[in-house]
Amino acid sequence: MKIKILKKREELKKENNILVPIFEEQIENQKFTTLLPFLTPSKKSTLRELVKKWSFKAKKGELFQFDYEDNKELKTLFLYGLGKKDKFKLIGFKRAMSQSFRALSNKKLSEYSIFVPWTTKSWKLDSVLAKVYLATALTNYKFDKYIKKDKEKVELKEVSIFINALHEKFKDSEVKKMVKENKIIADAVENSRNLLNETPMNMYPEVLKDSVLELFKGRKGVKAKVMDFEEIKSKGMNLLAAVGMGSDKKPYFVELSYKSDKKGAKTLSLVGKGLTYDAGGYSLKSAQHMVGMHMDMGGSALMIGVMDVITNYKLDFNVNCYLVIAENLISGSAYKVSDVITGYGKKSVEILNTDAEGRLALADGIAYACDKGTDKLIEASTLTGAVLSALGQEVAGIVANNDNFVKNFKESYEKTEEKFWQLPAEENYKKLIKSKIADLKNLGGPYAGTITAGLFLNEFITENVEFMHLDIAGAAMLAEDIDFYNMGGSGFGIQALSHFILKGKVFN
Ligand code: BES
Ligand code: ZN
Ligand code: ZN
Repeated sequence: MKIKILKKREELKKENNILVPIFEEQIENQKFTTLLPFLTPSKKSTLRELVKKWSFKAKKGELFQFDYEDNKELKTLFLYGLGKKDKFKLIGFKRAMSQSFRALSNKKLSEYSIFVPWTTKSWKLDSVLAKVYLATALTNYKFDKYIKKDKEKVELKEVSIFINALHEKFKDSEVKKMVKENKIIADAVENSRNLLNETPMNMYPEVLKDSVLELFKGRKGVKAKVMDFEEIKSKGMNLLAAVGMGSDKKPYFVELSYKSDKKGAKTLSLVGKGLTYDAGGYSLKSAQHMVGMHMDMGGSALMIGVMDVITNYKLDFNVNCYLVIAENLISGSAYKVSDVITGYGKKSVEILNTDAEGRLALADGIAYACDKGTDKLIEASTLTGAVLSALGQEVAGIVANNDNFVKNFKESYEKTEEKFWQLPAEENYKKLIKSKIADLKNLGGPYAGTITAGLFLNEFITENVEFMHLDIAGAAMLAEDIDFYNMGGSGFGIQALSHFILKGKVFN
């Protein structure tokens, strides 16, 4: 699907299907037709009558279809309700626009235009365009490579966008730049979703590692380094090695580094869980819980997406990304419950459940990242089922060692309309991960599973490093389409984190 930007209001006249997001007040006061310059006066009055007849109120999510003839051509206008204008906020507009996209999905359109005819205070083209563009580009996704093509199906080929008169006020080159920036995000999300959706038969540690190398091959300013199983062991990353050694397909550790030109630049590290499959190991998952466990590389898919976006820009801090890639299976060489293992962070861990493998692999990734040197560290993982019980599929959990770091991130996830919620890094729960025979145990007991997992990871953070753990176990792969996220791999978090790194206050 192509996304085109219209430059002039007049161009709308040529469009065949136009979608107009509209407020209740505008319908109530009957003046809404003045917003629709492409309709003749008689069409406007017909539309007003029909809207009244069918009592279209522009309530949130309400769709009204008006078919009319223009110069012997059949055209369609869709009015899409946004609810009350006095309650409207720019934050939320992206979700509303993706809902409008879904509302049109059964209309069998091959193209349509989005026309935003009104304006609000503090209306800036770049942020509004970003919302409309991403709502369209991200909602359009489908993972259908394993489904036979339906030749009858009408494919949506093009969506055009015109936002009030704002486009007219900007130079072509400026609009082009905005589109380019959003396309970078949309493409990164799509790639990340594809990685996550790929079936486990075709997506195992080596494939994930190769996909990363391929993606960043020749990328300016980015260096990639790979450690294989032997190197992982020789470096002392015994936790990652243990998690991955039960599979014939051995683990990898991938390091991507972006170096800033700035002298004395600070460093942000990103760490992602990359379990291409999590069967649980000897603490085997039930048949029901194993379904979909190829999504356990969601943290890596997220960080790959973020690196994919941010490395298109010049930054004044360094960004290192570490991916711990493995498969958690059963075999004669798999690690066992009651093993005690010391990894890169030099703390011994008693294994009480081989299904709590993510924190083990990540402990090595985090310890390594800190050893390499970092000022701040953000780690993302599909780490606990408990986060699903606590926050469901739409909100990811945060456990952090610094509240200010989270506060600064909040601005970015709110602006990009991605949802996170901070859980307390409760000091008193630290005792839950202490072992009687080792420094730590990988099981925190029956309660507060997301917090104890986060506290476990925090044990491998060196002093003065600000740390934020993102548990995306619920949000990374969805059972249903939700707004601009699609069923399956969602690409959750890429927009928020990229915004944080490019426009937010990681270092402030
Ligand atoms: N990968 C899972 C977490 C998960 C659960 C992701 C559901 C997506 C959906 C993780 O490795 C795991 O198995 N965690 C265990 C930890 C427990 C044994 C302490 C869990 O949450 O049950
Ligand atoms: Zn597990
Ligand atoms: Zn897992």
